[in-house]
Amino acid sequence: MSKNILWIAILAFLVSCQDKTATEPSTNTVNEQATKAPAASETPKTSSMQESAKDTAVVNKAVADKAAADKAAADKAAADKAAADKAAADKAAADKAAADKAAADNKKVVAPVVQGKQPIKQQPNPAPSEIMLKADAGMTLAKANSLTKKCKSCHATDKDKVGPSFKKIQAAYGSVNALTAVFESGFTVENRKVVAADTKWKKKAKTMTGQYKNLIQKQVQKGKFTYKELAEAIFAK
Ligand code: HEC
Repeated sequence: MSKNILWIAILAFLVSCQDKTATEPSTNTVNEQATKAPAASETPKTSSMQESAKDTAVVNKAVADKAAADKAAADKAAADKAAADKAAADKAAADKAAADKAAADNKKVVAPVVQGKQPIKQQPNPAPSEIMLKADAGMTLAKANSLTKKCKSCHATDKDKVGPSFKKIQAAYGSVNALTAVFESGFTVENRKVVAADTKWKKKAKTMTGQYKNLIQKQVQKGKFTYKELAEAIFAK
């Protein structure tokens, strides 16, 4: 029995203790808050909230402005790029058209020229490369080579050998007709232009005089070729 009473007493004590801890401090805190809050913290809190709301509005506006500016810049960049792309595409198309036209023109021009040269040469089947190479010389390279075959032991096209190069002879005479005239008039040393231009060749004039008589004058008299053809052969080289 006394045990039960003791338990009840302990329980009652515990319950009363709990009541105190539960109610007393909480009342205190509420009171403290009630007195402190309106006086000190809430008024500034409200203004700071208003301010922060203002700030937020300002920030929001700035963000919106920036977004708008960014969008405008992006739109402009896109427009610029589109314009540049279009310009590049237009240029490419124009270039292609020009290239196509050039190719077409080329075809137009080349074909008649090649065909037109054949009757002038009076050769049944001249090699196309020879036509292209010597189109303006008036003689094919093949014919020039056969006419100057015996001259080659002493003459080359670009280099001096025993005699001056054909290029040097071309430069000294300047034209087929000028060289033809000197051949026709007996190829006298006084009329030779290379000898006149450079005295070192004058010492060798006799060598060429002998060649002229055998390889040129005699052959022309036999009707193998004309002086003009021989001169053309030298200018075709
Ligand atoms: C044995 C060597 C020799 C042979 C072959 C020879 N020449 Fe020459 N030729 C010379 C010499 C050397 C000269 C330089 C002297 C001179 O100009 O007269 C010369 C000069 C010339 C000149 C320049 C003449 C001048 O002074 O203006 C002509 C053009 C020429 N030869 C044409 C020919 C032709 C065309 C042939 C072949 C049909 C030929 N020669 C064969 C040795 C030769």
